[in-house]
Amino acid sequence: MTPAAFDAIASLVQARAGIVLTPDKDYMLKARLAPITEKLGLAGLEDLARRISGAQAEDLKRQVVEALTTNETSFFRDGAPFEHLKAELVRLAAARPGGEIRLWSAACSTGQEAYSVAMLTDGIPGLSLSILGTDLASHVVERAREGLYSQFEVQRGLPAAMLVKYFRKEGQMWRISDKIRARCRFETGNLLAPFTHLPCFDVILCRNVLYYFAPPTRLSIVSRMLERLAPGGLLLLGSTESLPGPGLALAEVPGARGIYRRT
Ligand SMILES: C[S@@+](CC[C@H](N)C(=O)[O-])C[C@H]1O[C@@H](n2cnc3c(N)ncnc32)[C@H](O)[C@@H]1O
Repeated sequence: MTPAAFDAIASLVQARAGIVLTPDKDYMLKARLAPITEKLGLAGLEDLARRISGAQAEDLKRQVVEALTTNETSFFRDGAPFEHLKAELVRLAAARPGGEIRLWSAACSTGQEAYSVAMLTDGIPGLSLSILGTDLASHVVERAREGLYSQFEVQRGLPAAMLVKYFRKEGQMWRISDKIRARCRFETGNLLAPFTHLPCFDVILCRNVLYYFAPPTRLSIVSRMLERLAPGGLLLLGSTESLPGPGLALAEVPGARGIYRRT
């Protein structure tokens, strides 16, 4: 791939999704974009880069950006934060009339994060939890809505007892129960776009996505999330991520790495 073609594709992805692609990722670009170039009968990525530079290529641009998102996820990813979250949700619900709690799984990928929280909190007396999952990539949002997972996916992080209790077998796949599904809603949503249409949340999960962005983008996203987080509410980052700057109105919950309370 020529440097000019790489730059054209990387610039599009950074402008539209915030994702920073460095030149060492050119093998990844080739692999992820091959289905698109083949489908369109293009000669290669130079050809694709030319196409996306046209003003008319809106749908193609969306396909390219979505193909370059990394959607790696699993049920109860990293384990410990979910146990801390469960205890915090019980505490937050006790302080709330009717126990109503709103949670946002931002960058939810195929839905495992949202469904993990819904399963974990099922049956907690006095807690009424509603979960919104959003992601930039429409194909993963579709999958999250479907709630249908392969054997491989349910073997990653999901305890066997939960598989039996909350899923039913459909052919070779496993479908989440209607009861758990009913607590979760999934929509497409770009973290670069304003959050002003969203309600105020008690908990925001923004895990394993900030590290794809440049530092100013990370800071902008977390600052805007804070405007959507209730006082005393929680922000969860991934286990290898940290706050994008000092001076944010957030304090780490003692003993719970990556979980921050709005001060
Ligand atoms: C690695 S997955 C993390 C999924 C889940 N939060 C977890 O921790 O397992 C990152 C997700 O971020 C989404 N993403 C990337 N850029 C985004 C953006 N600008 N707005 C919304 N979602 C984005 C990707 O589509 C992908 O599904």
